[in-house]
Amino acid sequence: MKRIIIAIDGLSSCGKSTLAKDLAKSLHYAYLDSGAMYRAVTLYFLDNNIDYNNAEAVVNALDNIEIHFERIDGQNRTFLNGKDVERDIREMRVSEHVSPVAAISSVRRDMVKQQQGMGKRRAIVADGRDIGTVVFPDAELKIFLIADADVRTSRRHLELAAKGIDAEWDEIQNNLLERDRIDSNRADSPLRQADDAVVIDNTLLSEGQQLEKALELANQKISEVDA
Ligand code: DC
Repeated sequence: MKRIIIAIDGLSSCGKSTLAKDLAKSLHYAYLDSGAMYRAVTLYFLDNNIDYNNAEAVVNALDNIEIHFERIDGQNRTFLNGKDVERDIREMRVSEHVSPVAAISSVRRDMVKQQQGMGKRRAIVADGRDIGTVVFPDAELKIFLIADADVRTSRRHLELAAKGIDAEWDEIQNNLLERDRIDSNRADSPLRQADDAVVIDNTLLSEGQQLEKALELANQKISEVDA
């Protein structure tokens, strides 16, 4: 079976990672959580008191950051300088700073280069904001996910609660909307739908239904590449 790249982009908490993980599992592909990388960089800056408005400090700090993923008990875990930070990077303090950090060009250059390296052998499902436009513009399948803002907030609320992370509904919604605003309006690779992306609105879809739709698209692309 041919190995394609599947790029999933969309606003915050619209179900990208759920769909990407489900697709990767069904197709036996790798999953690349690009947002986790921006979150790990943000965590490093916060924990090491790096002023991310200082361009020189950011460039120097990037030299000391190593991020990789490991699969442990079937779960994708993010490692920052050898430490499992999967839980820490989901905390609100990281969510509150990640969008300004992800708007910094030197940070993006570094992350995009690593992401492109991870996709060299294809057979990957990647999710983020610039995957179909900048990271893998030649991805065979590009999906742009959308969902209603209240539904997105409720999903994130449940997801955080399941991880034992306490946050108010309003705080979560304000953070989502603020990140959407920054991510969509930044100068360097803003979130936008690639011209050749397929839009899926999952507001009223279950996890199984969105997977079914996406798998149909993926299998069609794989058979076209195979032919
Ligand atoms: O997908 P996420 O919510 O974990 O992403 C966290 C932040 O990282 C998001 O607000 C914007 C940024 N991001 C980005 O700029 N480009 C990506 N490809 C992925 C995430």
